[in-house]
Amino acid sequence: MKSLSFMPRFLIVVSCAAFAGVLILASRQPSVHAAGQAPAPTPVQAGAGLFQQDCAFCHGRDAMGGETGPDLTRSKLVLSDTDGSKIAEVVRNGRLNTEKKMPPFHVSDAEMVSLVEFIRARVTAAAAMKGGRRGVDVADLQTGNVELGKQYFNGAGGCSKCHSPTGDLAGVASRHQGLSLERRMLYPEGAKSKVTVTLASGETVTGTLAYLDEFTVGLRDSNNTYRSWFIDKVKKYVVDSPVEAHVEQFPKYTDADIHNLMAYIQTLK
Ligand code: HEC
Ligand code: HEC
Repeated sequence: MKSLSFMPRFLIVVSCAAFAGVLILASRQPSVHAAGQAPAPTPVQAGAGLFQQDCAFCHGRDAMGGETGPDLTRSKLVLSDTDGSKIAEVVRNGRLNTEKKMPPFHVSDAEMVSLVEFIRARVTAAAAMKGGRRGVDVADLQTGNVELGKQYFNGAGGCSKCHSPTGDLAGVASRHQGLSLERRMLYPEGAKSKVTVTLASGETVTGTLAYLDEFTVGLRDSNNTYRSWFIDKVKKYVVDSPVEAHVEQFPKYTDADIHNLMAYIQTLK
């Protein structure tokens, strides 16, 4: 499997056995006191209800920060939390040793999944917001060092593993400008994930990830045909997500890295 050795850090390898661990965070029966009293709300809707009830007071209704709680859509902890466990830890333990305190909350696993889904939906919405707020200000876009940005691109940033300035990124600075370019760089929303499913027979099927929950994995193959399997009936599946790769980089960037990188990317006209 070429991509496995190519960029292993960005691959989520889920074997059936390991999946049991993931299920701890996955939805069980919603508990009776869940805020979503409406009939069968989606996790995001249920999470929105819970969030308004327990969290909005401090973090704002849109999770973008309030008087006493930080903007969760820009939180490095939230952005680097690929499985929801870091958010769950904060919610269940609170933050009691900080100047501005957050109380701990008792939430069921199902409620936790909903809260995480809602916060993620807010991250996506914030990233897509016009005049995006993530990272640097417009004025900062000009302050980086092109040469250092190029070094970061080819070195510590790992960007050249997937991108080439003369290939897919040629002209990217003509297609997007300023903050919109920065937003694409930090969070290429809508980029399709690839998935490789190894069937019980040992046959592997690769395609664009089309569906994934705790029970089912679905893809579109090269003929654009939708195929899906029960997860407990396949040997394993491997998701290769470009958005995850970008989000993984988030906690590692310094402000200078982002400025330099932007200076470099802006030369790719
Ligand atoms: C009483 C105000 C308050 C309430 C209510 C509250 N929080 Fe917080 N929360 C905070 C504060 C203050 C911090 C930052 C503490 C610090 O300085 O580390 C925080 C931090 C966090 C963080 C970590 C952010 C980071 O980058 O470190 C997450 C995630 C979070 N809250 C989620 C929630 C969720 C989900 C709820 C609702 C279940 C909630 N909070 C309810 C005040 C609150
Ligand atoms: C694991 C592979 C991978 C890595 C590593 C990676 N990217 Fe990406 N990146 C992608 C994919 C895939 C897209 C989505 C392309 C699309 O939507 O057409 C993307 C999108 C982008 C875009 C937007 C391109 C466009 O045409 O809109 C920019 C800019 C970008 N990445 C910059 C970077 C930088 C800078 C780094 C290093 C810090 C990086 N990427 C690391 C895979 C990766």
